[in-house]
Amino acid sequence: MASPDLPIVHCTETFQKLVGYPESEILGRNCRFLQYPPPGYTEQTGPTTGFDIGQTKTEDSTATAGDASKEINPSAVIHSHAIMQNDSGRMTITECIANSVEGQASFINYRQNGERFWNLLTIIPIENGGRKYFVGLQADLGPVESTEEMKVAKQS
Ligand SMILES: Cc1cc2nc3c(=O)[nH]c(=O)nc-3n(C[C@H](O)[C@H](O)[C@H](O)COP(=O)(O)O)c2cc1C
Repeated sequence: MASPDLPIVHCTETFQKLVGYPESEILGRNCRFLQYPPPGYTEQTGPTTGFDIGQTKTEDSTATAGDASKEINPSAVIHSHAIMQNDSGRMTITECIANSVEGQASFINYRQNGERFWNLLTIIPIENGGRKYFVGLQADLGPVESTEEMKVAKQS
């Protein structure tokens, strides 16, 4: 029987380098954890560049489908913009999972060290030994420069 929340069953070393987490902290989780700052995250530690292609594979399953003030913590504001930007990507990917079709969406993701990057995700449904899986291909489109960039990304 399919697992309930698309746990990651395999990930490449490139994917581990991309996100900064070791395999032991990746397997068994749903990839959405990358959309949130890691525990203890406080601030950006610097930009990243390049086009690393990572890969994950998850088990198939039935898909389920800020306000700023002077006092607010800036990283909390950035986080709330990231969540809004990621809403459209989540809807796209959730629909693809529900229909077992391939699809693509970009997400603001966090590495283990708290750095934000644009992740262009492609998912492809496959079948192996009578089981259904999704393969995910992650392309690092570079650092998220600012909160402004997140707002623009949300509007477009
Ligand atoms: C194979 C596969 C790989 C995925 N990789 C990522 C990823 O690298 N980063 C990310 O933010 N979401 C990724 N996702 C999307 C999330 O796992 C999840 O499907 C999405 O957030 C929508 O579900 P939710 O609204 O329940 O979070 C991936 C999904 C699949 C099926």
